[in-house]
Amino acid sequence: MGLVPTMGYLHAGHLSLVEAARRDETFVVVSIFVNPTQFGPHEDYERYPRDTAGDLQRCEEAGVELVFMPAVTDMYPPDATTTVHVAGLTETLCGPCRPGHFDGVATVVTKLLNIVQPDRAYFGRKDAQQLAVIRRMTRDLNLPVEIVGCPLIREPDGLAMSSRNAMLSADERQRALSLYRSLCQARERIQSGERNAAAVIEQMRRIVAAADPARSDYISVVDPDTMQPVERIERPVLVALAVCFGSTRLIDNMLVDPGGQNA
Ligand code: PAJ
Repeated sequence: MGLVPTMGYLHAGHLSLVEAARRDETFVVVSIFVNPTQFGPHEDYERYPRDTAGDLQRCEEAGVELVFMPAVTDMYPPDATTTVHVAGLTETLCGPCRPGHFDGVATVVTKLLNIVQPDRAYFGRKDAQQLAVIRRMTRDLNLPVEIVGCPLIREPDGLAMSSRNAMLSADERQRALSLYRSLCQARERIQSGERNAAAVIEQMRRIVAAADPARSDYISVVDPDTMQPVERIERPVLVALAVCFGSTRLIDNMLVDPGGQNA
């Protein structure tokens, strides 16, 4: 049995995880739960897009055997006081910008794994830090499940697919293409021999700033295993950024091998 945990408003990124699960498994479960504990008090929990009927139809068309859609009160009894905290990996990138976020993710994923008890669970590299946190947690707590990482899926113009894209105006969506553009420039620069992470970041910052974002939370070059910032790029690195257009916060990333071919 395979589990694909989601917060719904399913798009082709989610469905690529379902496809990966269908290749491996005889029974595929999708969970749909907009998890309140991973949203900060001023974040978009209420605004987060929801489409139960559409999601169920997409799951059915994708050949999903079972959809698990618990209510908030089912998942969190009022007197629940236990959380899961993964240290270290959560202290960079999205961690400092979203206090408590990864505790919410780690706790809800632990609960989903315990409820569904899958052999494997599927997560996208769109959320590379989340995937690293879940892998570490699974190992540290001896959870009897295999974590499968799946490729990041983009729109034809390069925008990383995300349920939050639905909240962008047409103009914001156009400006949001600067994220992918900055990542492609970073890859080109690194694969042309740039080894100084600060120079790569500075160039990305200029590209993103030209698109006039409401806020830029971070633009970082980190070690893909530890999520710690890298100064000299000698091995594959994760280039990652989080930028807001209007009130919508977008994340994107690219794994760049300095020894790779410059396409
Ligand atoms: P959600 O944002 O709905 O994403 C569910 C899964 O789909 C995650 O593993 C995410 O990485 C993957 N995903 C989203 N967009 C993707 C894309 N463009 N390409 C590939 N994979 C993509 O992530 C969450 O929900 C929650 O934090 C959750 C793990 C369900 C816990 O609440």
